[in-house]
Amino acid sequence: MSGDIFEILHNTRAMRRLKPDPVSDELIRKILDAGIRAPSGGNNQTWRFLVIKDPAIKKAVQVEYKKAYDDVIGPRYASAAPPPGSDEQRYHRQHTAVEYLTDHYHEAPVWIVACLEHGDSEPNRHSGASIYPAVQNMLLAARALGLGSTLTTRHLIREAESEKALGLPPGVHSYAILPIGYPMGNFGPVGRGNLKDFVYEDRWGESADWV
Ligand SMILES: Cc1cc2nc3c(=O)[nH]c(=O)nc-3n(C[C@H](O)[C@H](O)[C@H](O)COP(=O)(O)O)c2cc1C
Repeated sequence: MSGDIFEILHNTRAMRRLKPDPVSDELIRKILDAGIRAPSGGNNQTWRFLVIKDPAIKKAVQVEYKKAYDDVIGPRYASAAPPPGSDEQRYHRQHTAVEYLTDHYHEAPVWIVACLEHGDSEPNRHSGASIYPAVQNMLLAARALGLGSTLTTRHLIREAESEKALGLPPGVHSYAILPIGYPMGNFGPVGRGNLKDFVYEDRWGESADWV
């Protein structure tokens, strides 16, 4: 299953309800291969991708992911206003899906944990810019293959515990976990605010009439 790039960009939404059915190594390989086509600073490619299928490892990380929901994310959702392009009803649906993924995180048949080998350097914006393009490539590739996923970073609220459960060695940090599986629902369209509200021309705060 493939499609026009712009169609895919417009309907690759967070797919949080996934079937536990297995996903072939061949498809996961295609997704990873799309990931490493992304740019990285100086083309250094210090990315490493930990593919997790082991139910015990996924469960151990899900426990941390759920704790982070209970302590931080759940209360935030309960009090926050809907984001641009959403409304109360859609935001409520998003919250319900976030809760669902929290409870079923470990049931996604395959996870890709996107990591960087840092050595002694600390994670910063520059390093993030060298891994998230690969992450987005993988989300789009999964979509093109009919697979659902969501960019998740919540495990970082409990970073030490989660990275221990993932078995990451010193000098390696995780930037995202992509739970991947066949979706229960349908793709897209993604809801966003108005382009005009996000774009300025020449001077900060001044909209362009062509946007
Ligand atoms: C940096 C980042 C971290 C995210 N972390 C999580 C997460 O931990 N759990 C989750 O369910 N969604 C997570 N998301 C997904 C966003 O909530 C989602 O992209 C957003 O709600 C838009 O969803 P849509 O594309 O379906 O409209 C994350 C997205 C980004 C960009």
